[in-house]
Amino acid sequence: MLEIGTPYSASAKRALILGSGELGKELTLELSRLGVEVTACDRYANAPAMQVAHHSRVFDMLNPEQLRQAVLETNPNLIIPEVEAICTPELLRLEQEGWTVVPTARATRLTMDREGIRRLAAEELSLPTAKYIFADNFEEFTIACRKLEFPCVVKPIMSSSGKGQSVVRTEAGIQDAWNYAQEGGRAGAGRVIVEEFVPFESEITLLTVRAINGTHFCAPIGHRQVNGDYVESWQPHSMTENQIKEAQIISARITESLGGFGLFGVELFLLKDGRVLFSEVSPRPHDTGMVTLTTQAWSEFALHARAILQIPIAQVTLLSAGASVALKSPQVFAHPKYRGIENALALPNVDVRIFGKPNATEGRRMGVVLASADTPTEALKTALNAANKIKIVE
Ligand SMILES: Nc1ncnc2c1ncn2[C@@H]1O[C@H](COP(=O)(O)OP(=O)(O)OP(=O)(O)O)[C@@H](O)[C@H]1O
Ligand SMILES: [Mg+2]
Repeated sequence: MLEIGTPYSASAKRALILGSGELGKELTLELSRLGVEVTACDRYANAPAMQVAHHSRVFDMLNPEQLRQAVLETNPNLIIPEVEAICTPELLRLEQEGWTVVPTARATRLTMDREGIRRLAAEELSLPTAKYIFADNFEEFTIACRKLEFPCVVKPIMSSSGKGQSVVRTEAGIQDAWNYAQEGGRAGAGRVIVEEFVPFESEITLLTVRAINGTHFCAPIGHRQVNGDYVESWQPHSMTENQIKEAQIISARITESLGGFGLFGVELFLLKDGRVLFSEVSPRPHDTGMVTLTTQAWSEFALHARAILQIPIAQVTLLSAGASVALKSPQVFAHPKYRGIENALALPNVDVRIFGKPNATEGRRMGVVLASADTPTEALKTALNAANKIKIVE
């Protein structure tokens, strides 16, 4: 491998990336560009990051012995969780033994379940959030829905991309919402969080970088979610000065509490009356942040790589407004193929990233279309237009 002559990165030459999806793939590329040797891991073979990493390993990352074995055999300077579904108690033990977990093992532990991060944000740090109640069974759930009033939102405490999440609109919807949440949790049936429904005007991700030379913020990213899963994002999202200040204060506080070095995706709701509510945070690059692949001098992946290698970040530069649109598969495909990429690329300032997932299921995110333009509105229009020209087929 390359020897890097700088004192900061010379100590981090091997990285073990836990999770080899599209975010892990872009991070692998950025780390490789800085001379780091990457081992990409996931529970299935030929995952996107594995296709560009130096080495790959396939194992169950929720299994503590298998996780430990991967660490011992690859001897990484950095252990980088890129998904939530990892045995985080084992990460805590490994950290105690001297291994470096990005950003910290505690951050991965707290953010892998909604209860850990919500209690930290709302109860310890007193950050503004939606009202919430945790429920362990149907009876508690019913009481929680009535107390928070309809509509309210239910989510399994361990899930992502909107899995098991639904809006309960009436008393009659309680049973279906409970059943759906019980089927959608990563850890199977069990505890849920019920939240008041926030009629937000818009929602944003504030990418926040904790680097060796301080905390940096990217321009706010607006996004639209359908059924709890991201479909479009744009940058910069228009906000008042006060809202930006409030969003930065919230993001600085939650990321400071999670600690370590790296980029975090802080999800916030913007209310009509100007208030900003904390929703959740990823201690790693964020799916809505893929727009930075076209808008910023250093994308969220490049920033994360620099931050975790403890390279000072001179500044975060937004070069242009831009937008991203997720390409989702309409159905199951054993061998997905992509038609019309050339038509999408015929539009000005459009770029396409196909993730290379070996197979597709209905609704699975398979790629992203990026566009830059003078305004985020124009960029989004172009990105949607381009995305419509691409068809996923067998
Ligand atoms: N209390 C709420 N009121 C209104 N909308 C909500 C509420 N909670 C969540 N949502 C909507 O659902 C989306 C997904 O919720 P959340 O981010 O909590 O779940 P997630 O499964 O972790 O999503 P992801 O993994 O995509 O970030 C939010 O971005 C927002 O659009
Ligand atoms: Mg979210």
